Amino acid sequence: MKKIIVLTGAGISAESGISTFRDSNGLWEQHRIEDVATFDAWRRNPDLVLEFYNQRRKQLYEVKPNAGHSALVKLEKKFDVQIITQNVDDLHEQAGSSQVLHLHGELKKVRSTVDENLVYTLEGWELKKGDKCEKGSQLRPHIVWFGEAVPMIATAQKLSAEADIYIVIGTSLNVYPAAGLVYYVKKGTPVYLIDPHAEMLPDVKNLTVLSETAGKGVPKLVKQLLAQGKG
Ligand code: OAD
Repeated sequence: MKKIIVLTGAGISAESGISTFRDSNGLWEQHRIEDVATFDAWRRNPDLVLEFYNQRRKQLYEVKPNAGHSALVKLEKKFDVQIITQNVDDLHEQAGSSQVLHLHGELKKVRSTVDENLVYTLEGWELKKGDKCEKGSQLRPHIVWFGEAVPMIATAQKLSAEADIYIVIGTSLNVYPAAGLVYYVKKGTPVYLIDPHAEMLPDVKNLTVLSETAGKGVPKLVKQLLAQGKG
């Protein structure tokens, strides 16, 4: 079976009702990264950081996957599909995708502040001050904050190098190392980019840009690949 690697960003979840980060009215227009998404912010003002991610988590329980997420599931009929997502929502899993790697963590999980291997699935949406891991330390959101290492990046780079087809959906390609993954793709591999307002185009050969929303563009591309692909 041919391997399709799909790199997704906030844009694929936009039509589900989750704000992106850098579009107008995006999350980083309403909150300063330094106040809510760094370890330093967590040390200075844990209440604000907990509240920020509690609100994101609460919202996640109110939204559903959209046509973009669902179309990627159909691709599994003929291809070995591996999703690499920068998103911390679980909409790919909710849609039914079977192989999803989260580069930047997962909203519904929390982890220990003294042992990064102690990761738990949170019951409900609210993580509170005083919620502790089994070693007695405060639990924090299971999110890769700015300035922190991205533990899954080496796996994502290896997977990208194995792609027969590479699809990038709804990411501004502003944040490294995720934005550099497309450069691990073998020469000659077809690369598709689906984004209605793509600004940073990857400098690769065989690039096809679909300037459409994920809800429209992904089903179209999936139909085309299923029709032409032998898998
Ligand atoms: P951005 O907000 O930077 O980019 C979102 C992209 O989605 C933009 O290129 C938009 O044009 C596009 N977009 C908007 N609506 C869309 C739609 N309906 N369909 C398809 N595309 C659409 O989000 P990311 O690139 O995902 O990290 O941001 C990368 C990382 O920066 C995030 O994982 C997050 C953030 O800070 C952390 O918080 C660690």
